[in-house]
Amino acid sequence: CYQDVNLILPFFSEIGYKLLYIHLEVGMNKELLNCERVWLNVTPATLRPDLADYGLLEPHALGVRDGKIHALVPMQDLKGPYAASWQDMKGKLVTPGLIDCHTHLIFAGSRAEEFELRQKGVPYAEIARKGGGIISTVRATRAASEERLYELALPRIKSLIREGVTTVEIKSGYGLTLEDELKMLRVARRLGETQPIRVKTTLLAAHAVPPEYRDDPDSWVETICQEIIPAAAEAGLADAVDVFCEHIGFSLAQTEQVYLAADQYNLAVKGHMDQLSNLGGSTLAAHFGALSVDHLEYLDQDGIQALAHRGVVATLLPTAFYFLKETKLPPIAALRKAGVPMAVSSDINPGTAPIVSLRMAMNMACTLLGLTPVEAMAGVTRHAARALGEQERLGQLKVGMLADFLVWNCGHPAELSYLIGVDQLVSRVVNGEETLHG
Ligand code: NIG
Ligand code: FE
Repeated sequence: CYQDVNLILPFFSEIGYKLLYIHLEVGMNKELLNCERVWLNVTPATLRPDLADYGLLEPHALGVRDGKIHALVPMQDLKGPYAASWQDMKGKLVTPGLIDCHTHLIFAGSRAEEFELRQKGVPYAEIARKGGGIISTVRATRAASEERLYELALPRIKSLIREGVTTVEIKSGYGLTLEDELKMLRVARRLGETQPIRVKTTLLAAHAVPPEYRDDPDSWVETICQEIIPAAAEAGLADAVDVFCEHIGFSLAQTEQVYLAADQYNLAVKGHMDQLSNLGGSTLAAHFGALSVDHLEYLDQDGIQALAHRGVVATLLPTAFYFLKETKLPPIAALRKAGVPMAVSSDINPGTAPIVSLRMAMNMACTLLGLTPVEAMAGVTRHAARALGEQERLGQLKVGMLADFLVWNCGHPAELSYLIGVDQLVSRVVNGEETLHG
């Protein structure tokens, strides 16, 4: 039943792909015949949960069609001659695209002066209480035009693109009026339309109580529930809703109100939980079937059980832990033991994580929080995809998943958590399109 077929696929690109000439055994890999483009001789770290660790496979040919991974075929099943005139990836590592599932990368202003204060010993929570912190970024962000916010966010998102991020979540939360929150979300959507990266948006109007509502925080929560969530949902601007549940943020009861409103509009929920204290936010979020709870330094055993029970992702934000010089670690061993999926994210923001690098967050997740490089890698692929509700489409190398992947100039996948600051990308593919220099 074998039949030799000579297949000539034309490839044209500025980096010199010429022709790919493959003899195929049709019975074994006819799916490659239908691909628009094939990356030959890559070593996949699939991150498949049914395989151990990185889910490494022997060298494969990876074929793409209609923006999806259409074929993943062992090289030994291909018959030569092939690739003689095509760029052979020579066994290089290929991984799923990196997913940064928690960022606040749209903002104006700088908090460098606050850093000066903090270095003189003034705590983050005290700066926040005195009208600095989040509120100082709110002032600057409100004053910035939509165009200006876009321009300010561009170099940040480009840095993520260059280091291999193919999906990024971006939160609002520095507008804190209906118009300014929608302005931020529109900028996030525009970044996703103009840049070679998927953008997921999260409405975080419950980030801080704006100055106008200082004496009546409950009516800010009402405004969020009755005006901002409905408007963001109707405009299709929010993929999820987030709340900063904290003594300097919103109470458990207020958080619940926001979640109930999100539910009415069928929006997924997430939470900044247990960062500086434990208000029971993770248990509440789990009750609502949240996609993720994030930070978690003060997460307790009840919370862990609730997360495990509902399959909620625990997102670790080691950059904020580092920058705030926290000493209380999130309960990694207990999360691991309970089988809670752990994502890792950069938390890019001007106050607690002015570090625009997911690779750095992976490194810190290992060195500061005690993750293994395998866990850090799963944390920015498979588990980060789940934290965005995208686990069926993203985060693994598997036929049928979206074709977001990276070819690396690196010997072992642990290098992605270990080595910082070196450009190791050979190929960056989003939705089946090569976008390395996007
Ligand atoms: O994720 N915790 C609340 N939100 C941000 C900090 C935002 C800010 O300080 O501007 C965080 O750490
Ligand atoms: Fe955050």
